[in-house]
Amino acid sequence: MRRLTLALPAIFTATVVCALPAFAQTPAPAKPASAASAPTLLSVKDVMRHIINPAAETYWAHSGEVDDEKGANDRVPTAQADWNINIATAAQIAEAGNLLLMDGRARDPNGPWRTYALALNAAGVAGMAAAAAHNHDKTNDAGSAMYDACFQCHGRYIPRPKDSLYRHDIDKDLKAAGKPQK
Ligand code: HEC
Repeated sequence: MRRLTLALPAIFTATVVCALPAFAQTPAPAKPASAASAPTLLSVKDVMRHIINPAAETYWAHSGEVDDEKGANDRVPTAQADWNINIATAAQIAEAGNLLLMDGRARDPNGPWRTYALALNAAGVAGMAAAAAHNHDKTNDAGSAMYDACFQCHGRYIPRPKDSLYRHDIDKDLKAAGKPQK
């Protein structure tokens, strides 16, 4: 008991002493942004068109396998320059997951929207790691996970007419698109 009462002030002193210099380096909190200086938020559609879709298409062009007249054509990189393309596009996908979660863009911030946006983020992070490690199979897995996130979110959030003949068949879609199948 005695030991405890003696030890406590020592801990407190240590904490305060350690915390102070770190605190002193913390920049002053930014002033709240006025409406006039608020950044412009692109629409979800523009984020899809100009950020997510080009990044994903480029990643997919450097992963998976397509059959052509010469037979099966494995597109996973072998050259460092191509691995670098995968790292960069996977990074764009990872951060795009966060862009989709921003206030004003997230359609349903606590529902499946969040799940799909986080899945996109995780797939991008996995793609970066796979490319950094030159891992063939994980490069394809990450491409497939990206595709699933797109597909699932679109299935839920892009309205289709009630009598639409469209049905989800992810294996068929992956095959048709020449993307790695699950
Ligand atoms: C969290 C949900 C979500 C994820 C994940 C998502 N999308 Fe989208 N996407 C949408 C929504 C919602 C729209 C419809 C936007 C609109 O028309 O306002 C859309 C529209 C699009 C469009 C059409 C844009 C246009 O010009 O009309 C493309 C292309 C697209 N997405 C590509 C992708 C790709 C590729 C991925 C995955 C790599 C992806 N999206 C992942 C929600 C998502």
